[in-house]
Amino acid sequence: MEKYITNSEEETKKFAKEFAKKLKVGDVIVLTGDLGSGKTKFVEGVLSNFGLENEISSPTFTIVNEYKKDDINIYHFDVYRLEDSDEFYAIGGEEYFEKGICLIEWGEIIENILPKKHITVTFKRNLDEENKREIEIEYFN
Ligand SMILES: Nc1ncnc2c1ncn2[C@@H]1O[C@H](COP(=O)(O)OP(=O)(O)OP(=O)(O)O)[C@@H](O)[C@H]1O
Ligand SMILES: [Mg+2]
Repeated sequence: MEKYITNSEEETKKFAKEFAKKLKVGDVIVLTGDLGSGKTKFVEGVLSNFGLENEISSPTFTIVNEYKKDDINIYHFDVYRLEDSDEFYAIGGEEYFEKGICLIEWGEIIENILPKKHITVTFKRNLDEENKREIEIEYFN
């Protein structure tokens, strides 16, 4: 497991932009952590690596937002409102996995249908330091 600390939203985005450089089609990234812990900011950083700055739309009321850069599709999911993985299955969610790079906020909700090979990024807030986040990265094969 790799551990990092960021001290601002900007640092998290920069870190995510760097992280994104090694991503390729078929990669599934689960983003887990409390409300407001930085999952969406991380996705913003990932998108900026693909030249998709300031293009993020809030996935609050949609389960998935799609982005495209050249021939790379990027799918940003927020499954917070899903009851369980059956609902994800019902919207054809699994079909996205091999078609692009998938970033899934609250992905632990659909844990039982995630591909075995995925990356989990966990965000932890700090009680006394408002802008500090601990970011843990785990690679599952
Ligand atoms: N180090 C940091 N990294 C990321 N965001 C930070 C940091 N410090 C402060 N913030 C603030 O925390 C908030 C993170 O919001 P964000 O929407 O990314 O959270 P989220 O994990 O996606 O929440 P939700 O579960 O509601 O979707 C933003 O308001 C951001 O400005
Ligand atoms: Mg979010």
